[in-house]
Amino acid sequence: MEKDKIIDEIEKLKEERNAIIMAHNYQLPEVQDIADFLGDSLELARKAVNVDADVIVFAGVDFMAETAKILNPEKTVLLPTRRATCAMANMLTPEHIIEARKRYPNAPVVLYVNSTAECKALADVTVTSANAAKIVGKLESEVVIFGPDKNLAYYVAKQTGKTVIPVPEYGHCYVHKKFTVEDVERAKRLYPNAKLMVHPECEPEVQERADIIASTGGMIKHAPEWKEWVVFTEREMVYRLSKLYPDIKFHPAREDATCIGMKAITLEDVYTALHDMKYEIEVPEEIAEKAREAIERMLEMS
Ligand code: 13P
Ligand code: SF4
Repeated sequence: MEKDKIIDEIEKLKEERNAIIMAHNYQLPEVQDIADFLGDSLELARKAVNVDADVIVFAGVDFMAETAKILNPEKTVLLPTRRATCAMANMLTPEHIIEARKRYPNAPVVLYVNSTAECKALADVTVTSANAAKIVGKLESEVVIFGPDKNLAYYVAKQTGKTVIPVPEYGHCYVHKKFTVEDVERAKRLYPNAKLMVHPECEPEVQERADIIASTGGMIKHAPEWKEWVVFTEREMVYRLSKLYPDIKFHPAREDATCIGMKAITLEDVYTALHDMKYEIEVPEEIAEKAREAIERMLEMS
């Protein structure tokens, strides 16, 4: 099918099914362009609370679709392909959390939303990169168990002055791990007037050289503060920012910073998802109930 025809069909099916398309800022441009709502993890979770539709097609990775399902148990949530997964979320297991709780029995477990529903069910509160420092700062405890991203843990520790125990010790995002100090130096050489916006999933030595450190939603908010930026996060963020602010210059820090899970979703997949009503996200209620408490606590605290 031609692209225009697929878009027409998607529009028709959306009406028939009373569906909404939610998409993350890292989606392919063609998927961003047909989304009803685009955002970062926190904005998507917030939006998912009261979606006025029977079906949510979630163009993002599996943990995001699971969060939408947990917050909307009575709705049908579809992930357009099973290949849309987050490698970092899959690094953390329930056993890691149980083990950490044994070592630090008084420390609350704070989990990045980039985690499975099973792990969220064991958390005291979830966070996103947009609110992690704020929420950890508000917790009474001076020591927190934090997973799965060790770089976001580093950022939170720096911002709050608290002791942040990363679980697992090696949790990271392979996309953000690609950025190095050499990329920072090259960016400064190529674009001497640009400032650097850096995602907190980047390594500490890259974070330390940033002008701003922000979630993808935070990058959108801060962008109008300057006329030229080099963007240290997944490559498609440059498309999102450039479309929102055509008069500001945005350069990707690396062309190869692509998230395979995010890029697995095509326009055809969105069409097939709506046509065949697949792939339906299911979260067992005993897990969903506990995970919901941790997510709702985040929404209240942020
Ligand atoms: P944001 O919450 O900043 O959109 O980040 C999600 C993510 O997966 C970053 O890699
Ligand atoms: Fe996960 Fe990294 Fe992809 Fe974000 S960019 S969804 S953290 S693998």
